[in-house]
Amino acid sequence: MTFLSRVITEGRDRLGPVVAQRQAKRVDFPLSQFGLRERNGHVTDAHGVVLRELVDEFGSPLHVVQADALRRNAAAAMAPSLARRGADVFFSYKTNPVPAVLERLHRSGMGAEVISAYEYWLARRLGVPGHRIIYNGPAKSAESVAAAIEDEAYLINANSVGDLASITAQAAAVGKRANVGIRVALPGMWAGQFGMDSGSIDVLSMVREARLSADLNLRALHFHRGITMRRIDEVEEYLDDILRFVDYLGAETGWFPEVLDVGGSLSCPTTSGISTKEFRLNRALGTDITPPDPRDCVTVGQMAEVSQARIHAHFTARDIPVPQVVLEPGRALVADTHFLLTSVLDVKADGDITHLVADAGTNIAESVTNEFHQLFNLSNMHGPAEDAYRIAGPICTPADVTYNNWRMAKPAVGDVLAIMDTGAYCIPFSTSFSFPRPPIVLLDAGRTVIVRRGETFDDLVSRDIDLRVDEPK
Ligand SMILES: Cc1ncc(COP(=O)(O)O)c(C=O)c1O
Repeated sequence: MTFLSRVITEGRDRLGPVVAQRQAKRVDFPLSQFGLRERNGHVTDAHGVVLRELVDEFGSPLHVVQADALRRNAAAAMAPSLARRGADVFFSYKTNPVPAVLERLHRSGMGAEVISAYEYWLARRLGVPGHRIIYNGPAKSAESVAAAIEDEAYLINANSVGDLASITAQAAAVGKRANVGIRVALPGMWAGQFGMDSGSIDVLSMVREARLSADLNLRALHFHRGITMRRIDEVEEYLDDILRFVDYLGAETGWFPEVLDVGGSLSCPTTSGISTKEFRLNRALGTDITPPDPRDCVTVGQMAEVSQARIHAHFTARDIPVPQVVLEPGRALVADTHFLLTSVLDVKADGDITHLVADAGTNIAESVTNEFHQLFNLSNMHGPAEDAYRIAGPICTPADVTYNNWRMAKPAVGDVLAIMDTGAYCIPFSTSFSFPRPPIVLLDAGRTVIVRRGETFDDLVSRDIDLRVDEPK
């Protein structure tokens, strides 16, 4: 050990406990926050299904969808629109492209927001009509754009001059006008491949040219913040930035949108991003990562009402026709409708840290690495949570760590853990890295239905054309 590294280590050893003492301790969410309860020593859903027994029946790991939660979130999001006092809602398919989930969201009247040829195909396959589909994304295939024009898709939003040119070319080939929007990136929003920089002169020329084009019906401006919003004042500020831009564009071009698509980016009440400071303290000193306050979180329904009211007031004050307001939420609709069950395979002391090896890791729960996700040990709900454990996944790489330090009651091999709020981005980001992807089951009023079967070993090689067909001896 060099002199410098000794000084750093000693400093950390002395200062660490002092800093750690000052950090807030985690207070776990109650089970009821997730529609769960404890009965006769078992954690169950609201209809009495014992969660631990799902693993006995369907294997581990296991994605579980709560139908009640899906219905609740969808109905609350659509209520303002159905009562004609809020924005229309299109679900962001990429967040959770599981047909059983999508179908249930569509039953509420929600539209589809898709970003690829596959997602466009899936929406149509699920029976979503073109006028309930918004087609976004920087990589749309020519064929899928042609299909969207043919189907009179509600909006095809262009990300660049080139994207708009290829939509125009497809519209000319199809012989129908394309309903288009232009995605604009205001300062602080996702930019790069997404949308036109709001300060660029090209936005003005795109609007002018699109208005003159016989192949385009320029309807919309599209915005998507990217960085999530939790508080109402953040949402209001975001809307005000958009409206300032609308005014500027109107003054420059004389054009005002007929549709204002303000994107997604709302939070899930029970998850939140982990700050760099929290992450470092947790990893180095084992301090707790604390949960967000679910009460301060703006819901999709609230954003639907606030955006409609604010945009309505802005346009009427200027005597301009009020646009249809549209939202594209993802995580806020589905994150808290799923959880992931995973079993403890090994508990291993390694120096200062006890590692727990679980059969689910970053391969199927990637979001857990950078967000707070409540974890319950269903097999030991009430033991004293004195020590922290590093929870590793099954993949043979040091990067497969879901929780660097999670304080919990002493775990044992065979325990079943529930990682909460895994409904957004975990499934689409999951991989079959060394392990086939697990099944997805839906809990609906006491019934348990497999909605996606788990991958088999054969599935993993089913597309390989050089696989030897003879069985090994
Ligand atoms: C264009 C667009 N709309 C909507 C969403 C959904 O975002 P979120 O899950 O943050 O609501 C995304 C996600 O990246 C997106 O890119």
